[in-house]
Amino acid sequence: MKVIGIVGSPREHSNSAYFVEVALKKLQEHGIETELISLRGKRIHPCTGCYGCVTAKECTLEKDDFDEVFNKMLKADGIIVGSPVYNSSTPADLKALLDRAGFLSRWINNEMKDKAESYDWKGTAFSGKVAAPITVARRAGQNFAFAELLLWFTVNDFIVIGSHYWNVGVAGKGGAVDADKDLEGIGIMEHMADNMAHVIKQLKK
Ligand SMILES: Cc1cc2nc3c(=O)[nH]c(=O)nc-3n(C[C@H](O)[C@H](O)[C@H](O)COP(=O)(O)O)c2cc1C
Repeated sequence: MKVIGIVGSPREHSNSAYFVEVALKKLQEHGIETELISLRGKRIHPCTGCYGCVTAKECTLEKDDFDEVFNKMLKADGIIVGSPVYNSSTPADLKALLDRAGFLSRWINNEMKDKAESYDWKGTAFSGKVAAPITVARRAGQNFAFAELLLWFTVNDFIVIGSHYWNVGVAGKGGAVDADKDLEGIGIMEHMADNMAHVIKQLKK
């Protein structure tokens, strides 16, 4: 059983990483292996909409750090995506990863059909995996970024894990890295991790 936490903040020390680490630590307490994957310093080009993955069953863009992260996503039982809120949305690098991973994941097991033909979906590469979003903002825009991640999980056939509140953390102004002061946020992430561990264990029975 393994859960990866993808951190979409480009900063070396970040609130997103803090909250993802809180969740991963809790998962470890449940006996689940974890790995934090920071996108900081990674080069992930945006999807060009070439549709190359439909037939190649891999991303045909010029090689960058996408394959490394995508392969870890494929091997994980659970994926947590921690994202800063940038203008009510996710940062560009994280969006690039999600666009490419989501589209490729559909075509690994499926063939593109003509309009008139119905799909016989054989699942995405993420089918049956559990997932949870975490967003961090100073003040506003959480809902949009959080919904963006939820929509990505649900269109890609993940089982989404909730908590007793949305998994959102708050940060101070001026780029403060002070997630450790958000005790309510920490509790929300820990409870989400408890739920995730429970569901993974049930699915693995
Ligand atoms: C480019 C940029 C855009 C931001 N947009 C928002 C925003 O829309 N709403 C908000 O509350 N905070 C916004 N912030 C503040 C960040 O969400 C906040 O500093 C958060 O802690 C960053 O996450 P990180 O610590 O994981 O990097 C923005 C920060 C940057 C650098």
